[in-house]
Amino acid sequence: MAVADAPRDGWTSRRAFLLAAIGSAVGLGNLWRFSTEAGTNGGSAFVLFYIFCVILIGLPVLLAETLIGRHGQSSAPESVRKLAAESNASKHWGLIATLGVIGSLLILSFYCVVGGWVLYYIWVFLGDMIQTGLAGGAFQGRPAADIEGLLPNLFGDARLMVGCGLAFLAITAFFVARGVSSGIEWVASWLMPAFFVLLVLITIYGLATGAASEAISFLFTFDFSKLTPEVMLAAVGQAFFSLSLGMASMITYGAYVGRDVNLAQTSGIIGGADTMVALIGGLCIFPIVFAAGLSVSAGPGLMFQSLPVAFQAMPFGSLIGFAFFIMVAFAALTSSVSLLEPSTAWLKQLTGLNRLATTLILCGVAGVLGTLAALSFNELADFRPLAFIPIFAESNFFDALDGVTAKIMMPLGAILVCIFVGWIADARLIDEENGLDGALHQFWRFLVRFLCPIVLGVIMVTGLMS
Ligand code: PFF
Repeated sequence: MAVADAPRDGWTSRRAFLLAAIGSAVGLGNLWRFSTEAGTNGGSAFVLFYIFCVILIGLPVLLAETLIGRHGQSSAPESVRKLAAESNASKHWGLIATLGVIGSLLILSFYCVVGGWVLYYIWVFLGDMIQTGLAGGAFQGRPAADIEGLLPNLFGDARLMVGCGLAFLAITAFFVARGVSSGIEWVASWLMPAFFVLLVLITIYGLATGAASEAISFLFTFDFSKLTPEVMLAAVGQAFFSLSLGMASMITYGAYVGRDVNLAQTSGIIGGADTMVALIGGLCIFPIVFAAGLSVSAGPGLMFQSLPVAFQAMPFGSLIGFAFFIMVAFAALTSSVSLLEPSTAWLKQLTGLNRLATTLILCGVAGVLGTLAALSFNELADFRPLAFIPIFAESNFFDALDGVTAKIMMPLGAILVCIFVGWIADARLIDEENGLDGALHQFWRFLVRFLCPIVLGVIMVTGLMS
């Protein structure tokens, strides 16, 4: 490291890094996207393949990304460029991380739209709690159609939709602008523990009062006949989305980690915690959905329409609903900061502007894209930005952002990271820092060099073509 390095902003401890990285991984992906995808892709077949992807593809890539970051100690593109230069390879490899930086900003813009729905639901449940008191079910005396109508009503109100999304973006920007240790780390250190407590409490409540056995058999009775190429692509995309991979987030977070941290160990912990939360999230949501006799394949409406109906029938329903959406908001915020940080670190380095200015500029970009994504549900419902690409021909702006990032940019980014770490970068530069020895180290290299890029490539191509 250069002797004249100014003291850098970074995680203050290993625990802080773990909480921030788990915070990045655990988010709307685990609760909203996982339950939607599991519900619409046949449940257990999806879940099994998802777990396979996390262990054999996600974890090796997570280790590779955090290693690049820690080695480079810089913004993601610069970290890749530095490692490439030290390995006598072309500096253009930095572009793989630039792709990720752009991808993370694209995800941020639609992520904030869903974050905005969560804020709206917190507000609605708070209002209901104040009006009807704590003890009874939520929305007493109102027909279920009213409750299911909350989301369509929100969708119908373009201004409210855009406003809620921008509010969520503003909260995200506030913490990112404060910096790594006093902004992002602060959010993770307070919100993640609170999230875990709420998740466990609500899950115990759901399992005790809901249809636990139906939910368990839906999620865990494996039926291989349902494992189609589309289900496999959906599961890979979900694994990457959930672990925040292929999008420069983990490279960026890796750059703030001290040299004494064993990254193989932390990758295992992050992956384990993220998968546990997805599964517990499933066990939190599906028993409630089954008990209320609702459809599991309700798609994106599952968490926002089906669950609130179920909260109506529950004792303390409005309190549970309020706590549930607070929990979701905490998880979403610790992820959205990790979506804004890669581009912030990069633009700050590129322009020399300060953090606040950089954050504001990027917020402007995400705000414009996010507004278009929010309007996909109302004013721009018929706009098909990618009509010329068959698998996205029917997608509105929101779905196009989600589809292109999860199905193309993330797997592609991960394939390129694998090729870079496995074949291009000088192994001596990063291998000694990876925290693995002997057979495990050889196995990781085998996964990164061969298995991950090949499997990812095959799944991506077959899934996109089918
Ligand atoms: N992993 C986050 C979630 O599950 O909600 C979303 C995410 C964060 C995706 C950061 C990608 C990323 F780079």
